[in-house]
This record gives sequence, C-alpha cells and structure tokens, in this order.
Amino acid sequence: ALERALRPKVLDEYIGQEKARAQLEIFINAARGRSEALDHVLLFGPPGLGKTTLAHIIAKEMGVNMRQTSGPVLERAGDLAALLTNLEPNDVLFIDEIHRLSPVVEEILYPAMEDYRLDIMIGEGPAARSVRLDLPPFTLVGATTRAGMLTNPLRDRFGIVSRLEFYTSEELGRIVQRSAGLLDVEMVDSGALEIARRSRGTPRIANRLLRRVRDYAQVKADGKVNANIADAALRMLDVDKLGFDVMDRKLLLAVLEKFGGGPVGLDNLAAAIGEERDTIEDVLEPYLIQQGFLMRTPRGRVATSQSYQHFGLPVPGAIANGA
Ligand code: ADE
Repeated sequence: ALERALRPKVLDEYIGQEKARAQLEIFINAARGRSEALDHVLLFGPPGLGKTTLAHIIAKEMGVNMRQTSGPVLERAGDLAALLTNLEPNDVLFIDEIHRLSPVVEEILYPAMEDYRLDIMIGEGPAARSVRLDLPPFTLVGATTRAGMLTNPLRDRFGIVSRLEFYTSEELGRIVQRSAGLLDVEMVDSGALEIARRSRGTPRIANRLLRRVRDYAQVKADGKVNANIADAALRMLDVDKLGFDVMDRKLLLAVLEKFGGGPVGLDNLAAAIGEERDTIEDVLEPYLIQQGFLMRTPRGRVATSQSYQHFGLPVPGAIANGA
C-alpha cells in the first residue's frame, strides 16, 4: 500500500486536529447547504501533519474535484490562469508551499480569490492590453509550513485559517493502529504506542516507522509487533526514546557542545551541522521547541535544561536556576 492508501478520505476517518476538524466540518456543511464554494482555506503547520490530506478531504466532503499544484511550480501568470480557467464550479485548487509563489502570480491570485476574476495581460509594450476573465466560484486551499512567510495581502484573503498542531502520542497510536490494519500488520496497542511516542508528533513519520518496524518484525520475529519489537527496530533506526533522530541529536548537540548551550544564530547553527536554514526552521526546530528542548530567543537558539539532561550533561547553574 502506498502512502496515499493510508490517508483518511473523509473527516470522520481523520484522527486528531480536533479544532481544525470541528471548524472545517461546520464551514463545509454550511457551504454545502448553500450550494456555494467553501471560503478559501489556509492550512499551516510543520510538514507531515496532514495538510495535503485535509485538502483532499475538503474536496471530497464538498463533492467537488481537486486540482493540485505548488508555489514554486507556478512560474508565470499563465500557469495559474490555465489551472483556474479549467475549474468547475466550487472546485478546490490546492496550492502547496504557497509562501513560494512568485510576486506576479500572487498579483493575479488576489482578484481571482476575491471576485473570481482574472486580469491577465496580453501582448507586450504599447500593444499590451489587459483582459478580464470571469472564473467559476472556487476554493483555494493553500498550505504552508509557516504562516509568517505569507505576505499580508495574501494571508488576508483566506476566510478560514487553520493551524495544524503536533499530534499527541495517543492520537498517533490510533493512527498507527489504523494504518497497521490497512497494511495487515498484527499490532498490539503497546507496540503502536511505542511507535507513536517516537514519531515526533507527526503521522507521516509514524507511518514510515510503522513500515520499517513491520520489516523488522517480519525478518527478526514472527511478524507480530509488540513494544519490544518496536523498540528494537527503532533503536536499529537510530530513533531514540524521545523520537529524536540523527539530525535532531546533531542539532541539539551542536548547540550544547559547539556553542556552549547558545544563544547561537541560525546561520552559524546551519553551517555547524551542514543543514539548510529552511530545513532547520521548518522541519527540525518546531518539534524540539514544542517539546521544550530548544528555545528561540532574539539573540539566537538556546538549549534548555531538558536538553542537557537528555544527553547526560550537567545543567549549568544559570539555566537550572531559570536565569
Ligand atoms: N494518516 C495520516 N494522518 C492521519 C490522520 N490524521 N488520521 C488518520 N489517519 C491518518
């Protein structure tokens, strides 16, 4: 089964994100009741939490088609115009990485979102003229890792803004059990919970670890997954007790050992661990910050006492005292 085979297709199958789900359920039902397009939806949050899945679910629940693209792919105004003019009434257009739209594409998106209208330039120089096209009503679903990276005018045009949060271990445990069922893996609850606890609050990671644990159980045991098998498989994968992987530990250890616990600026940290700034900000940091292992301060990143303790390092007095 491919990744998309594990994705829930309707809101009722979707586990977690109670807030976003409850809101969307009401807004979808209301729009459907009026036979209107759902208002534009902005989904933001770290990668792997279900933004694309929710976009598919929105289209399915609205009973419409979904077209999918991404910010960097839409290079010219015509690329977006081609998509928009091919929509049917109330369809969903999903734009992933919407913070990476080019300014020219973003410009023509504004009237499209506000008035279902396209203003495109035809020709060049003195012969250039602007043509107005009416579009069918549609729903733009935009996804981004950081809402702060959107321009204000773009963000303001979304009527529905949903922030996706990291999942609890209990929610991830239910997701792992559901996926195990779809993959025909025999799994006891304690095994699912062990995978869940070590998945960085992220369903995409949980489902990936589930497949590796399944491989391990099949080759090293009888295929059944319990907590011991899950633990052995995850240790083999270098996923520690808290779910930190090699890159998480590299980042935290750099702050602790190379920069004396911080504060350290993002560029210095990126250089020290050989990782992109964006990857640190979008992928690595959010979970470490949410779990209380790292802090973002005006002067840079700072390790917390929990970080020192996790690596068995003495906690400096100034930090232990909360200074
Ligand atoms: N698979 C991935 N994310 C999921 C979710 N939120 N609910 C159920 N199954 C999932």
